[in-house]
Amino acid sequence: MFDRIAAVYDLMNSVMTAGMHHRWRGRAADLAEVGPGSTALDVATGTGDLAIELARRGAEVTGSDFAPAMLELARKKAPGLTFEEGDALSLRYPDETFDAVTVGFGARNFSDLDRGLEEMTRVARRGGRVVVLEITTPQKPPLSLFFRAWFDRVVPQLGRLAGDPDAYSYLPNSVRRFPGPEELGARMSAAGLADVRWILTAGGIIAIHVGTRR
Ligand SMILES: C[S@@+](CC[C@H](N)C(=O)[O-])C[C@H]1O[C@@H](n2cnc3c(N)ncnc32)[C@H](O)[C@@H]1O
Repeated sequence: MFDRIAAVYDLMNSVMTAGMHHRWRGRAADLAEVGPGSTALDVATGTGDLAIELARRGAEVTGSDFAPAMLELARKKAPGLTFEEGDALSLRYPDETFDAVTVGFGARNFSDLDRGLEEMTRVARRGGRVVVLEITTPQKPPLSLFFRAWFDRVVPQLGRLAGDPDAYSYLPNSVRRFPGPEELGARMSAAGLADVRWILTAGGIIAIHVGTRR
């Protein structure tokens, strides 16, 4: 599915979020606490925007994804970074390789969330950060009402305009299925992370979780 929508993916992100997705990625990259001399892995990197944010902070960054068409666009946008094909549920890197491991809007697509979190934790070094940036469902009105109207009505229409209604009907369903902030925090702890905390932004629509590998 992501190979199919690769060509419209960046434009759709900007339209659906009024360009705010760059700011959210910036905050996720800040929580990864990387800088010159550190290494970072961005899994499910897609077209590479979170990997690029990490690299802006001076880190040596690898982006990995299993959709070749998404990676091709990432390589065009950031030829200086390393982009590799790989499954987030079975990462090819040895234990304790990276100072930070991130995922942006990818975890809700993992067919096995716990396995994905365990893999991200495994390849982070002890004391390194694991960051999960994801859409979450706001619980209280008026945001919850706006969110439902936006995701259930507007996003599928935008998907129709972009030529792939199925992919953009999948999006709200995948968000609904994804655990809320408390549960995701608990599952990150169970995956081997300590000091798990999160921030909610964009009126509670976006959650950015961070934990430290024990
Ligand atoms: C919504 S996109 C997010 C892309 C990018 N991280 C961003 O912030 O825009 C989800 C990405 O997750 C990738 N993905 C989903 N499950 C994966 C897995 N098990 N292994 C690798 N990539 C995966 C898809 O190929 C897709 O590129």
